[in-house]
Amino acid sequence: MRIYIGADHAGYTLKEGLKDHIESLGYEVTDLGAFSEDTVDYPDIAREVAEKVYENGGMLGVLICGTGTGMCMAANKHTGIRAASCTDEQMAMYARSHNHANILCLGQRVLNSEDLAKQITKKFLETEFEGGRHEKRVDKIMEVEKD
Ligand code: RB5
Repeated sequence: MRIYIGADHAGYTLKEGLKDHIESLGYEVTDLGAFSEDTVDYPDIAREVAEKVYENGGMLGVLICGTGTGMCMAANKHTGIRAASCTDEQMAMYARSHNHANILCLGQRVLNSEDLAKQITKKFLETEFEGGRHEKRVDKIMEVEKD
């Protein structure tokens, strides 16, 4: 399983901290930038990660900005993407098990804790979609793209 990760300047430090953690959980990581704390526009990074997640069905993404909001809004404009901004483990668990989220969005400035971000990320990556009654609801979300 490969995880595509990206951040803007406001999420760069957390991205660097999360990469080793994700690898230690047994995943391969592809870092799609940013590669420094120089200012970058979060929609550009969201596009990189969203396109890779869509092209490589079943793979997951992690996007980090200051709040998680901008990355989430940008990622969800892309085909096949269900991005969820999560601030605790429970949100991450439900984002996967009920909503079949394929990109986790985190906010470095609002979480303000690398440990918490690691716990949220682990929960997100290790939780499976439940399917069942949630399948048709997720299908209805994805139908909107075709309208
Ligand atoms: C960048 O200053 C900041 O606006 C961005 O990282 C993000 O929080 C947007 O939602």
